[in-house]
Amino acid sequence: MEYIISVKRRKRDEKNDYYQDFLYIADSENDTVATALTNLNLQEPLMDINGLPTTMIEWECSCLQKKCGACAMVINGRPGLACAAKLKDYKKKKISLEPLRKFPVIADLMVDRSILYENLKTLTLWLRKDIDGKKDDPEFGTMLCEKDSNLAYTASECIQCGCCLEVCPNFYPGGSFFGMSTVPVTTRLLTEMSSADIKKIAKGYMEYVYEGCGKSLACMDICPRKIPTDKLMVNSNALIFWKRRKKDVRK
Ligand code: SF4
Ligand code: SF4
Ligand code: FES
Repeated sequence: MEYIISVKRRKRDEKNDYYQDFLYIADSENDTVATALTNLNLQEPLMDINGLPTTMIEWECSCLQKKCGACAMVINGRPGLACAAKLKDYKKKKISLEPLRKFPVIADLMVDRSILYENLKTLTLWLRKDIDGKKDDPEFGTMLCEKDSNLAYTASECIQCGCCLEVCPNFYPGGSFFGMSTVPVTTRLLTEMSSADIKKIAKGYMEYVYEGCGKSLACMDICPRKIPTDKLMVNSNALIFWKRRKKDVRK
């Protein structure tokens, strides 16, 4: 099957974007966008659709199994993972590839997503050493109930790909709302934090997450890991702001 892969390109340290089309002949019906980009880049030299030599297409990947988020990009106008996007699933045989729009472009389809991690740092979402030994803490004991373990497992599926930020009407770079990508990490850690630690992250959560979300849930619809972001947010809100009622909200 023949496809035209139309790539939005930008050279490193330049600001001008342009589109370049490539003819791609799929080896298998299971070829993905990631397969196409890999095979195109194997050409020496890489030729565009007009037979003119050009530079390799810059993009990122690692696991190729929907587990790392590195290959997130905008495919035919929707954010998604290149390694999960099968070419045959698109009705048109011309497939456009663009970098995620809410992050600085490094080159071609590569973006700088360091803001995802900077936001986690601002919210101090990590376990501290003083968590060690909390198994004797009665609060910790109640928190690690079976339901929380399941929720923590679900939350740990987040791969920090940034697709949820791409579709979020309330997230923009440098804004005061950090977006849904911070919520799975919050939920994951809440299951292991003492009540004192929960208080420490509550202020940042209130300022950068809780107050900015409009609950449209576009993030849930687009998430390539199918994370129930609504449940995670409800649970995080409950544990952070209504801790005294937590037994009720977990039912
Ligand atoms: S919640 Fe989903 S879309 Fe958002 S960063 Fe995590 S895996 Fe990606
Ligand atoms: S529910 Fe809507 S506003 Fe809230 S994080 Fe998701 S997309 Fe953004
Ligand atoms: S390469 Fe890891 S999610 Fe696509």
